[in-house]
Amino acid sequence: MHPQRSSRQGWLMLGLLLLMALPSAEAQERGATLVEQKVCFGCHQMTSASIGPPWQAIAVRHAARKEVMVDVLASRIMRGGGGNWGLVPMVPNQRVNEAEAKVLAAWVLEQLPANQLPAANQLPAASQLPTSQLPTNQRNAQ
Ligand code: HEC
Repeated sequence: MHPQRSSRQGWLMLGLLLLMALPSAEAQERGATLVEQKVCFGCHQMTSASIGPPWQAIAVRHAARKEVMVDVLASRIMRGGGGNWGLVPMVPNQRVNEAEAKVLAAWVLEQLPANQLPAANQLPAASQLPTSQLPTNQRNAQ
């Protein structure tokens, strides 16, 4: 028996599980807390434009290139940016470090309006499916 090894493996598994859960629930929660703490709502709102563009509009604009945009947006959050949305530039948010900026960027990219969530987009409408792919109890409806 190697009790030490197996407990190490246990911790490793636990670590892996936590890592896998991170991008979804926990990171989103950290993002939601950080936007409050870093006073991003001073210039941004969820659905309507204020000094800066609404979170939902930013998420929609970059939805197709989310993976790349996490880093791009994180850098704009730290260093500031301008000319992408209007005449007013975003000043550098100096009290945001790189790790925080990435969490914030990932959070912003998830703020899609309900009708544009990928799950809803990517599922074909029932009317577009060949009848053979419909559950049997729905085939008569067509
Ligand atoms: C002083 C006002 C102000 C504050 C505070 C502010 N922003 Fe902005 N933000 C703006 C403006 C204005 C723009 C549009 C800049 C442009 O046109 O490129 C913007 C743009 C953005 C974008 C979109 C960048 C792009 O190129 O699509 C993101 C993401 C963003 N802000 C995140 C944040 C986060 C996160 C915080 C909090 C740490 C924050 N902002 C705080 C004013 C602000």
